[in-house]
Amino acid sequence: MRMRTVIVYKSLHHGNTKKIAEAMADACNADLVQLDERKNPGLQGYDLVGLGSGIYQSRHHPSLVAFAKKAHFSEGARAFLFSTAGIPALAGLWHRPLRGALAQQGIPIAGELCLPGYDTYAIFGLVGGINRGRPGDRELARAREFASSMVTAQGAGAQSYTSER
Ligand SMILES: Cc1cc2nc3c(=O)[nH]c(=O)nc-3n(C[C@H](O)[C@H](O)[C@H](O)COP(=O)(O)O)c2cc1C
Repeated sequence: MRMRTVIVYKSLHHGNTKKIAEAMADACNADLVQLDERKNPGLQGYDLVGLGSGIYQSRHHPSLVAFAKKAHFSEGARAFLFSTAGIPALAGLWHRPLRGALAQQGIPIAGELCLPGYDTYAIFGLVGGINRGRPGDRELARAREFASSMVTAQGAGAQSYTSER
C-alpha cells in the first residue's frame, strides 16, 4: 500500500523553508500544507508527517511546536523534522523543542535535516546577510534526496541527518 505523506511547514523570513518544503513534497509525492494557526491541518490518514520551518530564536516557529504537541497523528505514524537556519551546524540544538513535542506524543522521528538559509536577521543584516543565495540547487537536491529516503526508511531512526554532509 502506498505510504501517505504530508509536509506541514512555516516559512516567514525569506521563504527559504518554503522552497525546501516544496522540493521535498515533489520528491516524495507528499501533500504540502502551510501552517495557519487559524486552521490546523488534520493528520489523520497520514503514515509519515514532515514538520519544518525556519529557525527563529533557537527553535522552530512556536506555532509549529504547538501544533506538534496537540495534533492527532494516525496510529503508527512517523515524523521527520527539517529546517533552514543561519547556522545549521547547531541543528542538534535548534531541533530540540520540536523533537520534545513529538516525544511527548510518542511519535518516532525517522530523520532530521537542517539546511542553510539566507539570513538577514539582526547583526547579519548589517553585513548584507549570511548564506546568500541559499537554499540553492545543492540544498534543494539534498532536500529531495532526504525526503525520498524518509519514505523508504523502515522504523524510527533508520535515517538521521543533521546539517549538511
Ligand atoms: C527573528 C529571527 C530569528 C532567527 N534566529 C535564528 C537562530 O536562532 N539560529 C539560526 O541559526 N538562525 C536564525 N535565524 C535565521 C533563519 O533561521 C534563516 O534565515 C531561515 O532560513 C529562515 O527561514 P524562512 O525564510 O523559511 O523563514 C533567525 C531569523 C529571524 C528572522
